[in-house]
Amino acid sequence: MRKSLFAVASIVALAVAAPASAQSPMVLKFSHVVADNTPKGQAAIKFKEIAEKLLPGKVKVEVYPNSQLFGDAKEMEAVALGDVQFIAPSLSKFDKFTKKIQVFDLPFLFNDLAAVDRFQEGKAGQGLLKSMESKGFLGLAYWHNGMKQLSANKPLLVPADAKGLKFRIQASDILAAQFQALDATPQKLAFSEVYQALQVGTVDGQENTWSNIFSQKFYEVQKNITESNHGVIDYMVVVNAKWWNGLPKDIQAGLTTAMAEATKVNNDVAGKLNEEAKNKIEASGVSKIEQLTPEQRKQWVAAMKPVWAKFEGAIGKDLIDAAVASNETKTK
Ligand code: LMR
Repeated sequence: MRKSLFAVASIVALAVAAPASAQSPMVLKFSHVVADNTPKGQAAIKFKEIAEKLLPGKVKVEVYPNSQLFGDAKEMEAVALGDVQFIAPSLSKFDKFTKKIQVFDLPFLFNDLAAVDRFQEGKAGQGLLKSMESKGFLGLAYWHNGMKQLSANKPLLVPADAKGLKFRIQASDILAAQFQALDATPQKLAFSEVYQALQVGTVDGQENTWSNIFSQKFYEVQKNITESNHGVIDYMVVVNAKWWNGLPKDIQAGLTTAMAEATKVNNDVAGKLNEEAKNKIEASGVSKIEQLTPEQRKQWVAAMKPVWAKFEGAIGKDLIDAAVASNETKTK
């Protein structure tokens, strides 16, 4: 009730202010939870630059990184309320809105980021951009980050090494099942809370990309990182569908072009930024990076893959099959 009264008050205030500010640019807020020096951080900055260049005087894009404006818990609600216009949550964070996007969380589903890209660009992936329309959200684009690595304060070379440890996870039931399959304990935590949780030992380990492990300094409080590549962290740029569909055509067209350009930049820099982050962690000597032998990797696959069967009904076999096929084919 308080919220709706506030919303009405805001609309009224805007309506009153409109004539005086007819010439001012539309202020568009882009909120995200990672650092600027990551694939998502760079793409958001690029989106701002191109949108403001294509729509001079018409839009002003404000980018808020590092959960400064909204963190994991609040960002979808903020889009729904119109408090922010663009967000790009990790694909693991749509669990509450649709189970279908959870396909991306299945462990050892994609061989690499190229396969993820083929799936996203194919019919099934493109369909997922619209899978939350009935809830009022529209996906404009996928942005890459990269493959996930496992970390803790002990070497994680075989699944038994994870037994009994507590791992921070994103808010995804599949990720919870993945760690339960290892006899480990999953703990859902917002991204902004992970460093401290690792530092004080509320959790023992976590899974993330090299760029996140580096930019959030997780490696400083984790002695061991295993290059497991067992899953993916990618994003969907999401807007309020009603707001987007109601935009003046010239503004929507300019923002669409800016989004396409920013997506290109994201996809070009993602691999490089993750590689650089890995090299910097290695050079720091603070945490040790472990590689898996083919035999050890087989053990992780065997331990985690039973999770697929548990979620097949909720996700849909067709989607899982399309994702698996993207490992093989160039186009779909
Ligand atoms: C996480 O919560 O671990 C990350 O996915 C955050 C992000 O947006 O990369």
